[in-house]
Amino acid sequence: MKVRVRPGSTLRGQATVPGDKSIAHRWLILAVAAAGRSSLEGLPRSLDIRSTASCLAGLAPAARPALEAWASSPGATDERHGSTWNREASTLDLPVLDLHGEGRGSLRRPDRELDCGNSGTSMRLLAGLVAAAPFATVLTGDASLSTRPMERVAEPLRAMGAGVTTRDGHPPLTVRGGELRGISFEPEVPSAQVKGAVLLAALAADGSTTIAESAPTRDHTERALGALGAPVRTTEAGIVLDGPFRHEGFVGSVPGDPSSAAFLLGAAALTGGEVALTGVGLNPTRLAFLEVFERMGVDVAIDVEGSDLGEPVGTMRLASAGRVRSVHVGAEELPLVIDEVPILAALAAHADGPSRFEAASELRVKESDRVSVLAEGIRGLGGRAEEDGEDLVIGGGGLAGGSARSAGDHRMAMALTVMATAARTPSEVDGAESAAVSFPGFFGLLRGLGADVEEAR
Ligand code: S3P
Repeated sequence: MKVRVRPGSTLRGQATVPGDKSIAHRWLILAVAAAGRSSLEGLPRSLDIRSTASCLAGLAPAARPALEAWASSPGATDERHGSTWNREASTLDLPVLDLHGEGRGSLRRPDRELDCGNSGTSMRLLAGLVAAAPFATVLTGDASLSTRPMERVAEPLRAMGAGVTTRDGHPPLTVRGGELRGISFEPEVPSAQVKGAVLLAALAADGSTTIAESAPTRDHTERALGALGAPVRTTEAGIVLDGPFRHEGFVGSVPGDPSSAAFLLGAAALTGGEVALTGVGLNPTRLAFLEVFERMGVDVAIDVEGSDLGEPVGTMRLASAGRVRSVHVGAEELPLVIDEVPILAALAAHADGPSRFEAASELRVKESDRVSVLAEGIRGLGGRAEEDGEDLVIGGGGLAGGSARSAGDHRMAMALTVMATAARTPSEVDGAESAAVSFPGFFGLLRGLGADVEEAR
């Protein structure tokens, strides 16, 4: 699907964004692994969360009917074809999921390969779940996921005692579960997905597991486990979990995704508008992008109003934005803004000078090679951008307008659309349907807030 974006409108209003992708994966997995009933509200309809749900349905007979009913509710397959693009995101969350978990011991050998679709988080976290299950699980993915690195998760799970194979370091990932023991582990690349997988395995392991991170990453797994009473703590040596630990069912309401909110805040800032987003997750490990926004002259006020299962929730409001300033994002800062580089790049394309995103090689192994797709996209939209070794350099000075493609990557589709809202002439963005991977209803919401975006036929 291609969208046509006409500049000149201003984004204004109040909205909610779909539930947080990172949290939803984790809570779904923990609910299936729990002993007892769980009730999850606000799970997003995003394609990635459907991938986790359908893989779990293949592993957990007791939870399968609830997961299948949830995933096949009306409109379930529409997003794949982009046909929900003009609906508001707030109408797209699926109903409450009530399911009965019977503990990890009840997981059964799936009668098929488990297809994680486009979702690296599904594959890596599920590998941690099945690492202790006494059978072989094969995890596969789409063309993009099939090129992504999996040794980073295979290696620690092997050290814990599971049999894990990859195809030259890539999916399919075959996990032969076994008796696990705790390990001390220092990931080569800071990764919340790998940390999450090891913690999920550590729950079923004998002894303590310690994960020493060279740079902090999002801490949703630790927060959820802590709220469920697991013996998890942060020490000087790293994050420590004493296994084994069995948890019970729980109730939770998934907060809105701050990484999705970032696209709307960025669009409002670029078009001189104002927007308030309610019910957004305000976990500090997800908000480092606000500090970069601030350096660029975009101020966002946040207001914590409550919390659920250890996750703070509240409102984000664009407080002020003037002329956008160029920025330098250093290597040490990158892990905490890894998913927001695309929207930061959208702002940088309109900044008053050149911006640099340092050591961005991790961005090359996301849903697309984001360094090259962003550089190419910005040039396609009539701006200046280049790859400088492992750095992404964006010229600034605004965009003339033009055409660009998402390369099947949800965050590219959204970032390119947002930057086009402030170009000098109309633009087209191809592959726009991929936004539904994390933000179903994105285009409808943008339009509802005033952007001039329509499907190009
Ligand atoms: C995620 C962690 C990040 C992020 C991804 C979601 C998670 O990946 O890019 O969108 O939910 O743990 P890495 O941990 O591999 O950097």
